[in-house]
Amino acid sequence: MSRVLSGVQPSGDVHLGNYLGAFRTWVSDQHRHEAFFCVVDLHALAQEHDPALLASRTLETATNLMAVGLDPSVCTLFVQSHVPEHPRLTWLLECTATFGELRRMTQFKEKGGENESVRAGLFTYPVLQAADILLYDAQRVPVGEDQRQHLELTRTLAIRFNHHYGETFVVPELAVPEVAARVMDLQEPARKMSKSLSSPLGTIGVLDPPEDIDHKVRRAVTDAGTAVVYEPLTKPGVSNLLELLAAANGGDPKELAPGYTSYSQLKRDVSEALVELLRPVRERHLELAADPGHVEAVLANGAAKASAVAGATLDRAMRAIGLLAPRGGFSV
Ligand code: TYM
Repeated sequence: MSRVLSGVQPSGDVHLGNYLGAFRTWVSDQHRHEAFFCVVDLHALAQEHDPALLASRTLETATNLMAVGLDPSVCTLFVQSHVPEHPRLTWLLECTATFGELRRMTQFKEKGGENESVRAGLFTYPVLQAADILLYDAQRVPVGEDQRQHLELTRTLAIRFNHHYGETFVVPELAVPEVAARVMDLQEPARKMSKSLSSPLGTIGVLDPPEDIDHKVRRAVTDAGTAVVYEPLTKPGVSNLLELLAAANGGDPKELAPGYTSYSQLKRDVSEALVELLRPVRERHLELAADPGHVEAVLANGAAKASAVAGATLDRAMRAIGLLAPRGGFSV
């Protein structure tokens, strides 16, 4: 069976962009591949974070992942910092990547790369992400469109490492969904939905109660004119709503458009579709939140399974790059 790996930052409550762009694919992938999913808490340190909240947000993010449908009896769910091979492999890959490559990363530039006080970890962030992926010999990485550049770098590093030191890593492929690969903010449809940047009305949380979902969809910013057409460049607001509808109910956003003669009709259907889509997520979350010990046990088991795979890859990479192996190997 081929391997899959993907990750999410520990923001706590996950949003519709995460769900449609990535997690829905994770849920179907877990039945078809040997799948590893991690909450990337070390990545959260690359920007200002609240140490008093990080641990609880990490647990909450894992709980959300189980609520959206990850099943620990068929996939491996773990926390990145519980598997020390991640930062260990990162150093080898930092010594494979170049300064120029990292400086060109869009995320680094957008998040203040020019600023002297930016954390060095923000600069090396994509290398840690490459380590996450390469440690598991993942062939497939299901993510939203915004991760394309990071995946491209991961491929470059794997190919370069293999070229210099011999076949060591599997070169992974990006997997983005056909619809909703980039869910836009409901209030500012030119920018992607994201917990940190969006206004509260612009982001739908997967645990939002039905009345909040309805309110946010009805208040969604639409575009000039009244025609319902799918044209992401000229009509980003309406096109985003059509994508949400297509993602929730199936179908093609372009083909759904002619069925509508008004924005309000479209919004009503989008709201209903999203409420139904997220209803089971809320219900499962209620059950899971009542027993946090269960989620912690899942994560402990996940870390053990992840370590076994990651340890073998780390050992291979350390030897390939020429380091003297300690007795018993590198991964103990
Ligand atoms: P993160 O935590 O920002 O997002 C998790 C996943 O959700 C997707 N996503 C979206 N998809 C569509 N529309 C949106 N508005 C939207 N917002 C977020 C993201 O594409 C992602 O798939 N760097 C990564 C985390 C990471 C990772 C990894 C991913 C660390 N290591 C290894 C894959 C493999 C990130 O910050 O995702």
